[in-house]
Amino acid sequence: MSKTRLKTFYQCQSCGHASPKWLGKCPDCGSWNSFVEEKTVAASRHSPSIQSIGKTEPVALLSIDGTSENRTPTGIKEFDRVLGGGVVPGSVILVGGDPGIGKSTLLLQAFSGLSKKSGKLLYVSGEESPQQIKMRADRLSVRPDNIILLPETSLEGILDTSLNISPEAMVIDSIQTVYTQELFSAPGSVGQVRECAAKLMLFAKRSNIPVFIIGHVTKEGTIAGPRVLEHIVDTVLYFEGDRGHSYRILRTIKNRFGSTNEIGIFEMSDAGLREVANPSELFLSERPSNVSGSTVVASLEGTRPLMVEIQALVSQTNFGMPRRTSIGVDFNRVNLLVAVLEKRAGMHLGGMDIFINIVGGLKIIEPAVDLGIIATVASSAKEVPIEQKTFVFGEVGLSGEIRAVAQAESRLKEASKIGFKKAVIPAGNAAKIKNNEGLEIIGVKDIEGFLEAVLE
Ligand code: TYD
Ligand code: MG
Repeated sequence: MSKTRLKTFYQCQSCGHASPKWLGKCPDCGSWNSFVEEKTVAASRHSPSIQSIGKTEPVALLSIDGTSENRTPTGIKEFDRVLGGGVVPGSVILVGGDPGIGKSTLLLQAFSGLSKKSGKLLYVSGEESPQQIKMRADRLSVRPDNIILLPETSLEGILDTSLNISPEAMVIDSIQTVYTQELFSAPGSVGQVRECAAKLMLFAKRSNIPVFIIGHVTKEGTIAGPRVLEHIVDTVLYFEGDRGHSYRILRTIKNRFGSTNEIGIFEMSDAGLREVANPSELFLSERPSNVSGSTVVASLEGTRPLMVEIQALVSQTNFGMPRRTSIGVDFNRVNLLVAVLEKRAGMHLGGMDIFINIVGGLKIIEPAVDLGIIATVASSAKEVPIEQKTFVFGEVGLSGEIRAVAQAESRLKEASKIGFKKAVIPAGNAAKIKNNEGLEIIGVKDIEGFLEAVLE
């Protein structure tokens, strides 16, 4: 019998830093009390299952037939959109999100769609029993044909079963519950999560079976503590949205087979997730008319234009320091824009509390939202409402200049589709517009000109 050598080390659960001895504070990321003992079995006992799938050979690039990646659409349009058109064979897709946000629901529904076109699909669950999954499937009216459930948490067991039944796609629900026998640490620790994901990646590439990995986001907002999985997998999708709202947004963070920042919008109903076909209308459906502090921005998420409402409340500060709060947009960006308003437009906001909110629980990162924030704050501060059928977009520079943004025409098109009449946009964009989509277009160069155009 060969002697198995145990190697013990300690690993930080929030960044993955490894150390031969226990440490109170991680020298890498600075977290306290984050080291956990991990043991590996040195070499010898590598799982035979992956090795047996076959060796890879070098191939000439010229000889590869790669006209299309042969994607399989899931039939859920919003899901296919974030995937870049469908599921690519052999790809590994990480679906992350808070517990209870709807990850298992989404994948069960996606499997239902896939099962119409493909052979067997394997749903591995370490969290719920087959009965629980069946109950959910009934509630979602999922087509059960071809879906095979496997309540298993040992990675070696999962891979063996998978090789036996060779499914056309597989879900691991969730990566925090599976463990490999090569490590002795508990499931869910950084070492286990990373090792299991790496093995699943190897498995997917060699067998050409696409693998969906569900990962719970921890309190710190990262998957499995650190972002240890993001560089391993092909595609990273985050499922966001707050419990208070029924909207759920699936966002592409990384995609080796498509564009990033793409979003899919769903609504959680009592029969599962429903696609939202026209999100702009939905996000504007409860917009109040003729009140100050509300502006609509034509924002672009990935390749999709989206009309969103930004609200601001500017009010006199009561206790000393003025408060600044922003939900859905970057806090620092708001502070910067408020400073620009003070300096370049002569507004006095020093003694004011400013609250900014993007309606519907959306988060917007692109700079084209700048003009919206400026307009909303100015509108609330001056108590002048912005014309109901007017919308804006554009980036604002530190000297108050207004800069052009990408894809102006697709933004105009979306606005026109849902009945907007007037666009106040960067002059740089306005000069190049060929088709105004029936909108009145006002190009502005600086903040003063902008405020004049937007607050009549
Ligand atoms: P689930 O997919 O189990 O979340 P996750 O896998 O991300 O932890 O979703 C659970 C939540 O979704 C739960 O709070 C109930 C809700 N839900 C509905 O509102 N309608 C439904 O049809 C289903 C299946 C779940
Ligand atoms: Mg779940």
